[in-house]
Amino acid sequence: MLSPPIVTTVRELQARADGERAAGRRIALVPTMGALHAGHMSLVKAAREHADRVWMSIFVNPTQFNDAKDFDAYPVDLARDLALAAEHGVDLVFNPEARELYPEGAKTWVDVEGLTDALCGASRPGHFRGVTTVVSKLLLAARPHVAVFGEKDFQQCAVIRRMVADLGFGVEIIGAPTVREPDGLALSSRNVHLGPEARAQALALVRGLDAAEAAVARGERGRDALLARVEAEIGRAPLAEIDYAELRDPDSLEPAPAQLAGPALLALAVEFRPGPGGQGKRVRLIDNRVLAPAG
Ligand code: PAJ
Repeated sequence: MLSPPIVTTVRELQARADGERAAGRRIALVPTMGALHAGHMSLVKAAREHADRVWMSIFVNPTQFNDAKDFDAYPVDLARDLALAAEHGVDLVFNPEARELYPEGAKTWVDVEGLTDALCGASRPGHFRGVTTVVSKLLLAARPHVAVFGEKDFQQCAVIRRMVADLGFGVEIIGAPTVREPDGLALSSRNVHLGPEARAQALALVRGLDAAEAAVARGERGRDALLARVEAEIGRAPLAEIDYAELRDPDSLEPAPAQLAGPALLALAVEFRPGPGGQGKRVRLIDNRVLAPAG
């Protein structure tokens, strides 16, 4: 099967990065945890617009899973991922062992404060510390000019931008729009765990976003009224349990004012229970939209 060249050590990746840079070529890095889908591939396409070499990392980062069961259940299919990467023109895949990125005795963490307290940071303690630590290691290993992240994980993008600015990584962070199934469900490697009923009901997220956007278009500006609409919409899905539904400032992630005056991030996290027949696993899905009141 076709595969891009695979690098497994930091040292070799840095040497290749130095070679590309010496030859005047620009490197884009697309960090992933594998289980690739069209959402990941859209990041590769965006990366290509900014660089001569598109490198992808595939590493299921143990430190960002606050639940060991979630880590164990994370879908892994490297052969399929490598074939997809090759098909989409990825020039190199970095696929280290955990011990390579977390050497024996590792004691160093990168932690972004404030921005990580709310939303997914509140419901997944330690998650963002794992993300910022591994992304730092990946940036130091690949020495890219740009790195591309999906806006589906809006808070992750915001946290990484902050980290890169604070630590002077000298890498440009590109955000790419969310890729969806034809019916609107945001692509996620977790979708495979949804049973048929939960899969149908998972559209509650995008319906919630649509309901809020429609209300804003009709002139509604009240934060609580908008959230009530979203909650009512999601409440129509019997398997859904809202983890959070919040309106926040898209940059600072501070809570939006009671009356929206400018763009506001509507961020949702919803857990779906398995269907009554027990099909599927419990799955937590996230989605978001920036609502932009006109005028
Ligand atoms: P992972 O969940 O594999 O996602 C890798 C990248 O793909 C992230 O930037 C994510 O936002 C993006 N992505 C996922 N679904 C998408 C969709 N439907 N449309 C567009 N982009 C999508 O996010 C991670 O891995 C990890 O936290 C990582 C950054 C790799 C650090 O371990």
